[in-house]
Amino acid sequence: SAMAREDVLREELGSLHGIPLYKCFVEGWPQVEAFQARPDDLLIATYPKSGTTWLSEILDMIYHDGDVEKCRRDAIFNRVPFLEMKAPEMQSGVELLEKAPSPRLVKTHLPVQLLPTSFQDKDCKVIYMARNPKDVVVSYYYFYQMAKMHPHPGTLDEFLETFMAGKVAYGSWYEHVRGWWEKKKEKQLLYLFYEDMKKDPRREVQNILRFLGKEVVEGTVARILHHTSFQEMRKNPAANYETIPTTLMDHSLSPFLRKGISGDWKNHFTVAQNERFDQHYREHMAGSDLCFQME
Ligand code: PPS
Repeated sequence: SAMAREDVLREELGSLHGIPLYKCFVEGWPQVEAFQARPDDLLIATYPKSGTTWLSEILDMIYHDGDVEKCRRDAIFNRVPFLEMKAPEMQSGVELLEKAPSPRLVKTHLPVQLLPTSFQDKDCKVIYMARNPKDVVVSYYYFYQMAKMHPHPGTLDEFLETFMAGKVAYGSWYEHVRGWWEKKKEKQLLYLFYEDMKKDPRREVQNILRFLGKEVVEGTVARILHHTSFQEMRKNPAANYETIPTTLMDHSLSPFLRKGISGDWKNHFTVAQNERFDQHYREHMAGSDLCFQME
């Protein structure tokens, strides 16, 4: 079985309805497609590396009325199961969710067109968080290095091309953010931005509370903000993924909570890469009223 696990390391991505995805996840797809949502499920949807873990910790804190100890009860990937996750020798996201008591928090990176229909049928609330693509691609590049279920990322220049071509896990960032943005018009969906959360986390937490129809006292908001700050989460084993076996995630190559800032792309992109990226961005965001703050 140790061999079986090594098989998944640095393996080429498979394809799920045209979206590049880990082969294990593709194998587990029938269970995900048939997933039975509950009306009080809250779906946390993101493109990878856009602040999923941050938003998940905030929501778990809200769901536990700011009780820090309760939010240390288990690792974040067990407290907020990852819907389409499937890996050898691990419980799948669907298995974890079936055992979870209501109200459940559910994490997904699925593009909107692949979301299991049950979420729509049960009219579940959704919070989507988006992050500017330059910081996403840099964060993803480091994640590809440390998280060994990904193929080798190559150089940053090569990885930028792979990202722009939509050939990274979960496919095109452009289609992902645009697809969920369109969904907002027909559904009760809160669309958040990582950059706003960095700028004014208190306002964004209030925004989330309003969307959920929850009221908490001011001291609770302060506790939520403190506990979910980058510095606190980084040292919290229940939030920083350090309990995942090193064979799968090697934090010595790059920690899961790496920098947690906006604009780190400036430390990585050359002028030429930035021009090429801007051009590609303009082409692929044309006709959309969706705007990103790049810093
Ligand atoms: S994943 O694997 O897709 O679920 O990753 P995800 O959690 O979406 O994204 C990881 C990036 O989010 C940063 N992060 C934070 N930033 C600010 N504040 C807090 N509390 C926080 N928690 C996580 C994390 O550091 C990754 O970004 P980079 O730029 O790589 O640091």
